[in-house]
Amino acid sequence: MDMFVVQGGHALSGSLSVSGAKNACLPIMAAALAVDGCTTLHRVPQLADVRTLSSLLTKLGVNVRREAAGSLLIDPTGIRSSIADYDLVRTMRASVCVLGPLVARLGRACVSLPGGCNIGHRPIDLHLKGLAALGASVRIERGYVLAEANRLKGATVHLAGPQGTTVTGTCNILVAACFAEGTTRIEAAACEPEVVDLADYLNRCGARISGHGTPEITIEGVGQLQAAEHTVIPDRIEAATLLIAAAATGGTLQLNEVEPRHLLTVLHILQESGSRIEVSDRSISITGPQEIQPVDFVAQPYPGIPTDVQAQLTALLSRARGTSIIRDLVFPDRFMHIPELCRLGADIRREGNSAIIRGVPRLSGAPLMASDLRASAALVIAALAAEQESSIRRIYHLDRGYEQLELKLTALGGHVQRLVDSPASLPLPQPAESLPVRKSA
Ligand code: EPU
Repeated sequence: MDMFVVQGGHALSGSLSVSGAKNACLPIMAAALAVDGCTTLHRVPQLADVRTLSSLLTKLGVNVRREAAGSLLIDPTGIRSSIADYDLVRTMRASVCVLGPLVARLGRACVSLPGGCNIGHRPIDLHLKGLAALGASVRIERGYVLAEANRLKGATVHLAGPQGTTVTGTCNILVAACFAEGTTRIEAAACEPEVVDLADYLNRCGARISGHGTPEITIEGVGQLQAAEHTVIPDRIEAATLLIAAAATGGTLQLNEVEPRHLLTVLHILQESGSRIEVSDRSISITGPQEIQPVDFVAQPYPGIPTDVQAQLTALLSRARGTSIIRDLVFPDRFMHIPELCRLGADIRREGNSAIIRGVPRLSGAPLMASDLRASAALVIAALAAEQESSIRRIYHLDRGYEQLELKLTALGGHVQRLVDSPASLPLPQPAESLPVRKSA
């Protein structure tokens, strides 16, 4: 297992390009299994999650090949299995994205339920409700979803649940509806740019989808799709993470090949907290503040502040001059990073779906443990902004969604080293004065 060792206190400075979006790439890779012919995807990030989904597709009989320069070829001609087993699905929940495509292509899917998750309860009831509305018979047996349909029929599908809509659920229904007879209307659809990217890919393949990017999507079933070439959108969460890291270290950064309109609310929060931002067509520049200002925000579905940057913003605000109150409406239990940030000296209290962050003037490096993908990114940001050295264990969480983050940060002047995890610990803090030794009785 790898770990990061971070020497804090170095302001980031420089420019770099953003990778392709993980959360756009995964549903598109899954959708490619339902399409005739070989899809070519460009700007595919080198991530553990992409490798996991490639393995899953290969097990189904899909031919997946990585080309030089970040392209992926996906040819489902030899597909023979409809089973996504527990061992792969439990390591990556996005595996559930094969559900809709498998029912569309083979008329059946047997996909393991993903099980527990470090960011809270994550049911897939809305995915199943949507497929049932399109005429699939759906049941749960021995931990697997079994979905079958001789033919799918267009219908109205409502995707709102207690926590709002569902991103990957919208993706599953979008793909299945392309192969249904007649018209499907998805109400309360997710508006995330990653859903729009999937719809754009499907339309390139001959689908007739309109309204994507709004809560009501209309799909005219076409029965068959022909593979196309597609370039994945830039990763707005990676972009936000790097901008927040620059702000937290008081640095300056220019991000290229990014889509600023996908980041408007995040840029607004960064400005409110004291950063200077300049935006052009495909780039964003940030100059971090001398003093971070407190900001309140609510993480919610797009175009709100993404839950996927809640932890990173928490790390930034932990050094603000004053108190910030944040809420996560999408994943109300996504706060595993708080106790670790407190180990650096942050003063953060969780109350239900909220965190109350009392800014402290300094953080001091410590040994830390990553619990999930975005929590890991928050710990890296806090460690970069802290004094002295931190170690971050279980960095495999980070590798699921960030392409060579340590190399990108090092190129910007951050001191981040990847090492094989070792039990050696950091130097212990020295008490100000030595205490008298108590004699044992
Ligand atoms: N929900 C239900 N029922 C469902 C589906 C979801 O109640 O059938 C609830 C969830 O429990 C949650 C909320 O609805 O409270 C939103 O969940 P959603 O289904 O939208 O999440 P997801 O599709 O499983 C995607 C991203 C996540 C991101 C969320 C929210 C991918 C592969 N994953 O997950 O990304 O946090 O949308 O934006 O697209 C990450 O990249 O770190 C990550 C976790």
